[in-house]
Parts: sequence; structure tokens; C-alpha cells
Amino acid sequence: MSVTEMFDRAATPKRADSITIRRPDDFHVHLRDGAMLQAVLPFTAAQFARGVIMPNLVPPVTTVAAASAYRERIFAARPEGSDFQPLMTCYLTDATTPDEIEKGFKDGVWVAAKLYPAGATTNAHYGVTDIPNLAPVFERMEKIGMPVLIHGESTDPAVDIFDREAVFMEQSLLPLLRRHAGLKVVVEHVTTAETADIVRAHATRAAGTITPHHLVINRTSLFQGGLRPHLYCLPVAKREHHRLALRKAATSGETCFFIGTDTAPHRRTAKEAECCSAGVFGGATALQTYVQVFDEENALDRFEAFASVNGARFYGLELNRGTIVLERREAPILAAVAVDDTEVVVFRGGETLPWSVGKVSP
Ligand code: NCD
Ligand code: ZN
Repeated sequence: MSVTEMFDRAATPKRADSITIRRPDDFHVHLRDGAMLQAVLPFTAAQFARGVIMPNLVPPVTTVAAASAYRERIFAARPEGSDFQPLMTCYLTDATTPDEIEKGFKDGVWVAAKLYPAGATTNAHYGVTDIPNLAPVFERMEKIGMPVLIHGESTDPAVDIFDREAVFMEQSLLPLLRRHAGLKVVVEHVTTAETADIVRAHATRAAGTITPHHLVINRTSLFQGGLRPHLYCLPVAKREHHRLALRKAATSGETCFFIGTDTAPHRRTAKEAECCSAGVFGGATALQTYVQVFDEENALDRFEAFASVNGARFYGLELNRGTIVLERREAPILAAVAVDDTEVVVFRGGETLPWSVGKVSP
């Protein structure tokens, strides 16, 4: 091959029309319960082999018995023929005991515990009021190798909402990492460049999940032409330079970043309300969005690591065996999903997206 030919190839790389990857997992999913669970589970189950299920139900999932019962309800709600595997989590409160945590982990009921600072987000009012006080729980988790999943936002009402993640990292996360040198930590839904750097600096035992929406919207999107309640989630989207840093982190090939969609459905009536609930329902368009971002960043060859390898390795899970095909094929996305007498608005719903989900081979 001549030098000119080599340059030509580099200048106009052939863009793949489809990619086939190992089946992916979603390490951060809100499936809710009852009619909502029935309505949203099929979307997650169509895209992901496994999902780490968030425990912020009302009341929260704080015991082995409650997690086990919730897992059964998820199994019962799976669409016909689905092999989707829910991986349960325990909601940490001020009253959580090390023995309960260890029992659920050893019995294979839950894979991790979720730390919500009290009042930080939807259904977080039973969350932890004083993180250092849970030291005995974290010590046990260190010992048994069980990860803690952290919603990293300060709950101090005096802290500006766009600074809450940064303040939490300095005041709570870094001290926690110092106090518990062996604790495995997942910083959930990373939204700032600085948080991504903190994850990198602790990558031997820390990881970060990145949502699809934080890769495509910034804080200005929330106010584009008027107030956009369906783009409001916590942590709230930040400035454009943070969005660009997240795209870099996700597509970099670094093993400490992986999928956590934070798909968080709320009824239209709760979103289009005087006080809008936080949460974006991204479950129906997650892979289409992620793969589009990797394509735009010229990183399709790194998508499988982010989607299907890094998270499983961090959690110590076997890699999925099957495959999924993602195709460069335009398709219209449904606008909303019916639930009871209302509906849930789909993230990027009503748009035509450039990538589609193709064949899944278990
Ligand atoms: C989540 C929810 O609705 O449960 N909301 C959100 O904005 N992400 C809770 C959470 O993960 O913060
Ligand atoms: Zn969440």
C-alpha cells in the first residue's frame, strides 16, 4: 500500500453500518413497582441482559426479605421469553446493620448497597444523615468486597444546585475513600469533569456510571425555548464543558467508566406539575443514544468495553455470552408509554434516531 493510500484511508475511514457487541448491562435502573414496573421493564429487558435495580421504592428496600420479594415481582413482570436478570441493591439508612448487609450479599440476594444522602433526590428521605456514622457497615463491605453505589450530591440547601456534586465530592466522597481504603465505590451518574477525574484517580477500586442524557444535554437544554420538565433529573445537567468531559470519559476506553442509564420514569402528571419530580425516562432509547455518541466521537470500537465489559469486571460478574446488533438505521421513537390512565414521556421520544437496536442473540 502506498503512503498516499494510507493517508486516504485515515482521512475517510469507512463508517460501520452496524456493530455486534457482547450483550450489555445497565448498572443503574429505576424500575419502580406495580403498573409502572409492568410498563417500563420491557424496554430495559429488550436492551440489557442484566440491570442493577435501584431500591428507592416507597417504602425503600432496606432488608434482605424486601429485596428478595421485589426481585420476585420483577421476574413476574418480565415479558414472555425474556431472560433479563435483575441484580438487587440495599437502600442504606442510618439504621442499616453490617450483619443484614453481609447476609443479603452472601445469600446472593443483592450485589451492592445504595447510599442516598438523606433528601438528596426522589424517595431519598430515608437516606443517610451522617455518612461517617455508617463506618461499621462500610468496614464490613470492605471485608466482603461489596460495592457501595453513591448518589453524590450535597444536601445542604445553601449549596447552589449546580455545585452540589462538586461539594459532595470534596466534603464526603474523598474523606470516605480515605477512611475506607479497601471500599469499592461506584460514583453514580457522574456529571462533572472534576468527578470524572476523581474516579480516574481512584480507579483501582472506584468506578463511575454515565447516563445517556448527560452525554447529550447540558444545563441550557433544560431551558431551551422554555422550561423542559422531562429533561430535569438529579444530579441536574451541568455546563457544556462538563458534557464534553463526560463524552471523553465514556468513549476513552478507560475501564473505570460504564453504563448506568439512571432511567427514572415518572408519570407525565408528576413531571408537568407545579413541582416537577426529578428523573428522565431514558430506558427506551439508551443504547441508541450511547452508540450514537460513540459514533460521533469516532469510538465505536470502544463501545463494547463501556457497554458490556467494564461494569461486569468491576462488580466481579461473568461477562454475558450473547450478542446484540446495533445498526445505523433511522427509526422513529415512540413518544410516550402508557401507564394506568396517564403515560411516561420517553427521552428523545417522538424523534427519529440514526441508530437502532437490531437482533439480540442470547
Ligand atoms: C431518580 C428517581 O426518580 O428515582 N431521579 C433522578 O433524577 N435521577 C433518583 C436518582 O437516581 O437520583
Ligand atoms: Zn438513579
